[in-house]
Amino acid sequence: MSHRPNVFSPPGTPLLESTVGELVAERPGRSRVFQAFNIDFCCQGARTLREACERKGLAAEAVVEQLEAELADKAVAAQNPTELPPHELAAYIVETHHGFLRRELPRLHTMAERVARVHGGHTPSLVEMLNIFIGMEAELADHLMKEEQILFPAVVAMSRGEPAPGDLDGPIACMVHEHEEVGSALARLRELSHGFQPPADACNTYRALFAGLHDLEVDLHRHIHLENAVLFPAARVMADTR
Ligand SMILES: [Fe+2]
Ligand SMILES: [Fe+2]
Repeated sequence: MSHRPNVFSPPGTPLLESTVGELVAERPGRSRVFQAFNIDFCCQGARTLREACERKGLAAEAVVEQLEAELADKAVAAQNPTELPPHELAAYIVETHHGFLRRELPRLHTMAERVARVHGGHTPSLVEMLNIFIGMEAELADHLMKEEQILFPAVVAMSRGEPAPGDLDGPIACMVHEHEEVGSALARLRELSHGFQPPADACNTYRALFAGLHDLEVDLHRHIHLENAVLFPAARVMADTR
C-alpha cells in the first residue's frame, strides 16, 4: 500500500486528466466506482484516470459516467419515504437500505481486512475495528433475512387486509433489540476511529474505509429510524385492527 501523498492537479482539471488517487481523496465515495471497474486507486493512485482506463482497456466515458452518477446519487436521497404506505415502505427499505448493506458490507470487509493487516501492527485499534465489523456484518446478514422472510411479508399481507400471521410483538421486539446492538457496534467503531477521521498520512484505502464506515453509519441510522419509528408502529396498528 503506497503512502505517497496524493499530488493534486490545478482546480478545473478535467476528470480524465486527474489522478485516480486525488479523485478518491477529493470524494471517497468514488472508490466504489473504481472498485467496480477494478481500478487500483491505492498503489496505482498516481495514474490519471485516462491512463488507468487505457491500461485496463476500459471505455473512459463509461467510468466518467459512473463517477458523475455517484455524485447525483446523493442528491436523489432527498425524497421522504416516511409518507409511503407500510407495504411500500417495506419494499423501499429492502431496495434502498438492505441493498446498500449487501453492496457495501463485502467491500468494507475487504478494505477493513487489508487496513488491519498492513497498519494493525502499530495501530491495534484497526484490528479491534475489524473484529467489531465482522461481528456486526454477521448479525446484519441474519437480521435482514429475518425481516425479509418474516416481518415484512407480514406487513404486506396485513396491507392486503389479511389478518396478522401470528403475534408480531415478539419479532418486532427482537428486531429492535438487534438494532440496538448494531447501534452499539457503530458507536464503538466511531470511537475507535476518532469520528472516522483517518490520520493525516493515511493511504487511500485507509481513507476510503473510514469514509465508507461513516456512510454506513449514516445509512444504518436512517434505516433503523424508518423501521423503529415508522414501519414497526404501523405494523402494530395494523395487527391490532385486522
Ligand atoms: Fe432493515
Ligand atoms: Fe432492521
